[in-house]
Amino acid sequence: MGFEASPTLPILLARRLNRRRLLAGSAELAALSVVVRGSYAQTAAPSNLTFPRVAPSRADAVVVPDGYRADVVVRWGDPLFADSAALDARAVANGALLIPEAAAVQAGQFGYNCDGIGLFALDDTRQLLCVNHEFPMPALLFPGWVEAREARAIGTFVREQPAVVAYMQAAVGLSVVELARDARWGYVRGSRYNRRITAHTAMEIAGPARNHVLLNPRGEAMPLAFGTLGNCAAGTTPWRTYVTAEENVDDYFGNGGAAKLDAATDLAHRRFGFRQRDSAYRWEYADPRFDSAVSPAESLKFGWIVELDPFDPASRPKKRTALGRFKHECATTVLARDGRAVVYMGDDQQFEYFYKFVSRGRFDPERPEANRDLLDDGTLYVARFDEDGRGEWLPLVHGAQRELTPERGFASQGDVVLRCREAADRLGATPLDRPEDVAVNPRTGNVYVACTQNLGRDEGVVEVGGRTIDTRTDRASPRAPNAAGHILELIEQSADAAATSFNWEIFLLAGAPSTQRLVAALPSEHGESLAAELTYFGGATDAGELSAFANPDNLGFDSAGNLWIVTDGNQPGDFNDGCFACPTDGSERGQVRQFMSGPVGAEVCGCEFTADGNALFLTLQHPGEAGSATNPQSHWPDGESAAPRPSVVAIEPEARSRRFGS
Ligand code: FEO
Ligand code: CA
Ligand code: CA
Repeated sequence: MGFEASPTLPILLARRLNRRRLLAGSAELAALSVVVRGSYAQTAAPSNLTFPRVAPSRADAVVVPDGYRADVVVRWGDPLFADSAALDARAVANGALLIPEAAAVQAGQFGYNCDGIGLFALDDTRQLLCVNHEFPMPALLFPGWVEAREARAIGTFVREQPAVVAYMQAAVGLSVVELARDARWGYVRGSRYNRRITAHTAMEIAGPARNHVLLNPRGEAMPLAFGTLGNCAAGTTPWRTYVTAEENVDDYFGNGGAAKLDAATDLAHRRFGFRQRDSAYRWEYADPRFDSAVSPAESLKFGWIVELDPFDPASRPKKRTALGRFKHECATTVLARDGRAVVYMGDDQQFEYFYKFVSRGRFDPERPEANRDLLDDGTLYVARFDEDGRGEWLPLVHGAQRELTPERGFASQGDVVLRCREAADRLGATPLDRPEDVAVNPRTGNVYVACTQNLGRDEGVVEVGGRTIDTRTDRASPRAPNAAGHILELIEQSADAAATSFNWEIFLLAGAPSTQRLVAALPSEHGESLAAELTYFGGATDAGELSAFANPDNLGFDSAGNLWIVTDGNQPGDFNDGCFACPTDGSERGQVRQFMSGPVGAEVCGCEFTADGNALFLTLQHPGEAGSATNPQSHWPDGESAAPRPSVVAIEPEARSRRFGS
């Protein structure tokens, strides 16, 4: 099936059901492994997800189904280099990270709060793993921080112990680590690939904002930024690079209220987030680079997609400004039919937008040099979701639209990408419920977007994020408040990722799918709000077959076309976050089942399969989130009195004959 004119949602549902019935009656068709690009791959076969469902859990442990094993691969504080020291997680409560030497030690260790990952196969038993370290949690790292916070004296705490800032700056950024599988997956200490990137690592500013006066005021030939921050989800490219998304970077900069801003700098900050007082981590008390009164344009060097060549530890990462500046959640890269690179990206904040970038040049597997800077030149689009189930990709191109011109305050494409949210406002993009990670079904090309939640939905016409908008529900965000989140499904026109229009519908409305709350079809009437408790699981009708989940964040696909979902937030029943999977087509489309439960307080992230499909890699971010250095709420994974350690786990079937879904 190709692109069709404005099918309403019930029509789409009815067509799908009809096709299922037809196919179910045809042994000949059912025997085919039908792959329909750009549509629902229709097979009558039941799900190939055969793992026994895991019960939701509150245990301080990684729980996986019988027949699978989970191994901790690398933990915060593990030594990456031959001469690195190992973290003693039992000493954190005693102030081991407060000493001035701790930062240099951390710079040789695996970083904190792992989130998005990328896997690059080296051979059958070795992988190169890239990992984001999204943010520090000083309350869990430093005894005294919580007490200082309660006394409203963190600034004093930091001034008296500036080494805590140096430590946090060494704990964030990225890690590149070689992994090897012997009896189980582990990391290779001292591998020539191992690398740490911190808040200080030099990066090149590339793309249309490279010479923007706010990023390169002295007109340097090689403008640099130092560090990458707030690295949330991520992706890999067909040319084997890692693309990492800088998300909540405004958390790192404080004292903006004391800044004297010229008009251009003020405009650049207006739609992003610019803290008037303290930053989240108080770095500005020890490092003037993070004090916006001293360096009001420094934070503009963050909020980009950063591309890294993990195979060359000496390579300089590049900030790819052509992909826009916003709170980047992810960078999910696929190839268009003609070989152009297409990068899907969410902007994770309430009422922000969904974007994609389409490169001008084409991926050339024979000529690596042709791919090196593909992400510097192309067209950035933002999505508009129409009420009839269709959508448009609106080009954020300077001068080509009447809104993005010098008369409207956009002097160049550099202005457009730097003030990307404002440019998207002007084109009429659709505000969503915190669009997070994006995954593309390898069998169909269909695109899935996790909208994690939006408690501010339906508060009328209000000022949000530096502009006044209508926050009422619409068909793409139908529940208010949206506490549990949902997942959107897009079908690009002609199944081409470079298309400028698409069809879309809601795939899942997350929550606890009781019989009373679960609906098999969604209304298509304009403006019809749905009850906040209502759930929809891709048309599934048996609540007893479904696992409750909320706040989808990172997404992944197995090679069989099953969607894998990891969660960040308040799970129904106050259970721990977990990993869930469901078919996206066939008779069990939308039948979400829980595969894994994480430890206490941990968000489950990562969610990438090895290319051979034999292992699933997850990351566990902030175990024991609600605790403190001296009062830990989790001891995972070391146990006993140890501080909790954000870590990467590999999950494999115990028998190779068993798979995840294929
Ligand atoms: Fe860092 Fe949007 O999660
Ligand atoms: Ca995320
Ligand atoms: Ca998250």
